[in-house]
Amino acid sequence: MTSKRASARALANVALVKYFGKRDLALNLPAAGSLSLALEPLETITEVEFDEARDRDEVLLGDRPASAAFAERVSSFLDLVRSLAGETRKARVETANKFPTGAGLASSASGFAALALAATKALGLTLSEAELSALARRGSGSASRSIPGGIAVWDEGVRGDGADSFARCIAAPGDIDLRLVVGISDPGPKALSSTKAMELTRETSPYYAAWIETARAQLVDAIAAVEKRDLERLGEIAEHSALAMHAAALAASPGIAYWNGATVEALHAIRKLREKGHLAFFTCDAGPQPKALCAPADEAQVATTLAQLKGIQKVIRCRLGGGARPYALT
Ligand code: PMV
Repeated sequence: MTSKRASARALANVALVKYFGKRDLALNLPAAGSLSLALEPLETITEVEFDEARDRDEVLLGDRPASAAFAERVSSFLDLVRSLAGETRKARVETANKFPTGAGLASSASGFAALALAATKALGLTLSEAELSALARRGSGSASRSIPGGIAVWDEGVRGDGADSFARCIAAPGDIDLRLVVGISDPGPKALSSTKAMELTRETSPYYAAWIETARAQLVDAIAAVEKRDLERLGEIAEHSALAMHAAALAASPGIAYWNGATVEALHAIRKLREKGHLAFFTCDAGPQPKALCAPADEAQVATTLAQLKGIQKVIRCRLGGGARPYALT
């Protein structure tokens, strides 16, 4: 008999070649491909139970009811899964981010990846990894990359229906040893969602077209760097990608400025470490938290340096993690 209930775990990811622009807003199709690292231990665990006694979906975040906006997003995603399975039952979704609390880290990637796996398993759907990644993409673009995990490439694709726009793993955790140190400079929610920021940048930034061309070329170079296990080259590309993405956003009208003072200080501090011979590279997403990609041997120094900066409240050390997995129910 098909189980109605299932759980899954997925990790957050950080892009080294950023996704910042959509060619299709409804399907979350990217204007250019991207490349990411799955971050252990930043995980989300999600349990889904479909139940015919329910008249609506219920969404809990941690042990509290989720905000109406988040519950609505989850419910729309469940509608997609229900339509795939010919299912009508409503569901209870319980999702918990095992991130250090109040860290100001985006959880939509790990959240929608875990939800995609748990909901499809609960309904007995067996999807390939590619199909699951394309499905998770509908919840949040970056969630597509949390399905395969490791170093993942999310391809731009050419099809209008998005069936060829999913992520694949190009290096598993055992294949390459690298670290990512996150500095928390502002634990609050971000000022502007990444979707709104991408759309404003696409519509108004004179640098948008150049950014997309840059991202496409960077993806080719970054894949080659991963194949050669060349962390230095990968780091240079990652830092350039983050700066180019923020440059395009800053040039939107009105300009989108995600950084605070500590973000800028961190960029300079990471570059100084590099001058001293450490392998460390700056990156930053749609928010103010600076992140440093580094070699395992440089992790401790990078973490100490970031922790000492004015405005950095906390440092989290991450390593490369795997893909989304079923999670044993208790
Ligand atoms: O998947 P979204 O809609 O949360 O967008 C993520 C956008 C960035 O974090 C800024 C870049 C990326 O590739 O993760």
